[in-house]
Amino acid sequence: MPYHVRHLLLPRLAAGDCPPGSRPACRRRPAGGIMAGSRVVSMHWCASTGNIGVDFAREVVMKHRIAVIPGDGIGKEVLPEGMRVLEAAGRRFGFECDWTVFDWSCERFAKTGRMMPEDGLDQLRAFEAIYLGAVGFPGVPDHVSLWGLLIPIRRGFRQYVNLRPVRLLRGVRSPLRDRGPADIDMLIIRENNEGEYSEIGGRLYKDTPEELAVQQAVFTRRGCDRIMRYAFERARQRRRHVTSATKSNGIIHSMPYWDERFAAMAKQYSDVKTAQYHIDILTAHFVQHPDWFDVVVASNLFGDILSDLGPAIAGSIGIAPGGNINPEKEYPSMFEPVHGSAPDIAGKGIANPVAQIWTGAMLIEHLGHAEAAAAIVAAIEKVVEEGRGVTRDLGGKATTREAGEAVAALL
Ligand SMILES: NC(=O)c1ccc[n+]([C@@H]2O[C@H](COP(=O)([O-])OP(=O)(O)OC[C@H]3O[C@@H](n4cnc5c(N)ncnc54)[C@H](O)[C@@H]3O)[C@@H](O)[C@H]2O)c1
Repeated sequence: MPYHVRHLLLPRLAAGDCPPGSRPACRRRPAGGIMAGSRVVSMHWCASTGNIGVDFAREVVMKHRIAVIPGDGIGKEVLPEGMRVLEAAGRRFGFECDWTVFDWSCERFAKTGRMMPEDGLDQLRAFEAIYLGAVGFPGVPDHVSLWGLLIPIRRGFRQYVNLRPVRLLRGVRSPLRDRGPADIDMLIIRENNEGEYSEIGGRLYKDTPEELAVQQAVFTRRGCDRIMRYAFERARQRRRHVTSATKSNGIIHSMPYWDERFAAMAKQYSDVKTAQYHIDILTAHFVQHPDWFDVVVASNLFGDILSDLGPAIAGSIGIAPGGNINPEKEYPSMFEPVHGSAPDIAGKGIANPVAQIWTGAMLIEHLGHAEAAAAIVAAIEKVVEEGRGVTRDLGGKATTREAGEAVAALL
């Protein structure tokens, strides 16, 4: 219901609450309206006092259309907890999630021969974001689940940034001795659309002694430049340092080209410091000197490896979030934790939902709710630090559901 709040601090006009006595006589005349956060603010001219007044006319709840793909294994267990926490954040920060759940998974593949329907991308296109658990299950080859679902979505929707924040949370012990939260805080930015993961290639002389396989890597100027630009831009919002993963000593065409584009991009960002390492020594530095890294940019394959190593040094893959981003927002982006479907613990109710919940924070930040995202991450940190409601991979006893409820309760 509209109610009088307080007069704007406008030049020449007195500020202060609209005098209670003037309210019955206050003949409001509309003076316009603006959007402010989740509220539509309407302004009026108060005839009694001569002031411009502000009415918080109504709380506008933004509704976001989100496609949900729980997938397989623990994906089906952790995703409901991610949804629970996003709903709790929505109640506090004024948004609603309009979920549409898709059963696309290995189970579906076993029944229908397809991970998703032929028009899967057309069905997803109308959504603002996709919230995914994990796909993959014994009995269905991993390349089927990857190429039948994840890669078509990442490529079809030009999600060329794979974003994986790696942070050692307070209360989590790193397997690296004497390392604390100040030492491990990096953003791994993996090229997600081309590079080593290409469909180009084939086999010859199958099933003969001359059998051979050829796999083509693809590095385009556009592809390299856009991921590197994204990395430099993100570094500007952080500690202004970008490290590039390369292997230009052994891979003599594509990787020197990657280095060339990195050097060209660095010239455009003279305020950002850079470093470059071959992937082999870079993995060693991740372990020995994690504090050297802020933003790390890497090709599809190298980024894939680093973004599993990163969460490992940050304590547990069960807390590592990820997003496949189309920065231009021409298509929906897809948010999925780094971990897979963990068949070894699936069905036991013990999977850590934190990665999925943190992934949800990334999703809602992408949709414009930075404050809600920060509150979710703060709630995760508090739960983990206090050790209440943590699952056994972090040394606790909570079930997946209890861990999700503990985070939601803090919002
Ligand atoms: N994005 C994806 O959908 C995705 C990513 C990686 C792997 N996969 C698939 O998942 C399946 C299993 O792969 P994997 O075993 O290599 O990797 P995985 O991440 O599923 O599991 C690795 C180990 O980490 C543990 N683990 C993972 N997530 C956890 C969580 N939330 N809480 C507690 N422990 C957790 C598992 O129990 C297991 O011991 C495969 O079919 C693979 O293709 C899918």
